[in-house]
Amino acid sequence: MPYGYEEWPKLSLESFKLGRELNLRSIKVGSINYDFEPSNIVITGMGGSGIVGDIVRDSLWGHNIIIHKDFNIPKWVDSRSLVVAVSYSGETLETICGALDALRRGVPVVGVTTGGRLASELEGRGAPVVKVPKAIAPRFGLPNLLYAVLGLLSHYLTIPEIDESISVQGDALRSELPGRLASFLKGYVPMIFAPIGLQAVAYRFKNDLNENSKTPAVVAIVPEADHNDIVAVMLKHPVKYIIIRGRTDDVHDYLMRAVEEVVKNYSSDVEVVELKGSSRLSQEVYGSMLLGLVSVKLAELYGIDPVRTDPINTLKEKIRGINCPSN
Ligand code: F6R
Repeated sequence: MPYGYEEWPKLSLESFKLGRELNLRSIKVGSINYDFEPSNIVITGMGGSGIVGDIVRDSLWGHNIIIHKDFNIPKWVDSRSLVVAVSYSGETLETICGALDALRRGVPVVGVTTGGRLASELEGRGAPVVKVPKAIAPRFGLPNLLYAVLGLLSHYLTIPEIDESISVQGDALRSELPGRLASFLKGYVPMIFAPIGLQAVAYRFKNDLNENSKTPAVVAIVPEADHNDIVAVMLKHPVKYIIIRGRTDDVHDYLMRAVEEVVKNYSSDVEVVELKGSSRLSQEVYGSMLLGLVSVKLAELYGIDPVRTDPINTLKEKIRGINCPSN
């Protein structure tokens, strides 16, 4: 199977080790001391790197983990925070600006990247960087980035069910759903309903549909979607509905069953995707892989190259020369 999905289990283990091996507590950058228990963790990054933060936040639900997808980090972030700047290429301006802004303000920063300017800017200032192996494109390097971040954070927090999150990847690889779901979606806009505690799966699927299948997609997160998105089912649109069924807590599991019933009352174009695994991490890794395979199959059905993302390159080229915002 192309695009490296079969390598995920191996890369997950290796990358976890890479992150874990970095002993942050021994590091000092000028007056910034990394030997502390952060009161919050801010994970920055965009696109295929940014989704890593979403998965970590969902997986470590209840901990003080904040996701930031923009240039300069929020004003309240200070020396009691730890900023984890994730950029596959190391060339993403938003992430570089955020990391440098944080360091300038005395906030401990650690980079997770394959190299690029992020690595050289951070290393040049003595700040720690985890260098992960390369993949075909950032989104295909999800296990490399995600497990390196989890390895890093394992010094501060307990990461539930790491082994299970790797073993469910085999189930996703063996699943026959991707071919069937890709045929179901061809020619339509997917609308993806997911519970808030597993929202990263829905966003990752949307991003993979955008980038691999060149397809727009709508994400509807429950319970908020119960108050707006759900009304769209009243009219027939060129939309196919996907319900992400997982396990979070009794209330949200009940709400998702109720949403499924309501959508099915209006439309027969509904597919339910059942996530495997007991922890949120396992479910999200399983869903990311399974639905990634769907997006690649859909690209095949459209006869397009999943890897090319020309408009992203054009936009990156346009902003390459601009300065970081001053705030
Ligand atoms: C995903 C992809 C983009 C990038 C994003 C940020 O495969 O190509 O979503 O992830 O443009 O770039 P990086 O990840 O290099 O920081």
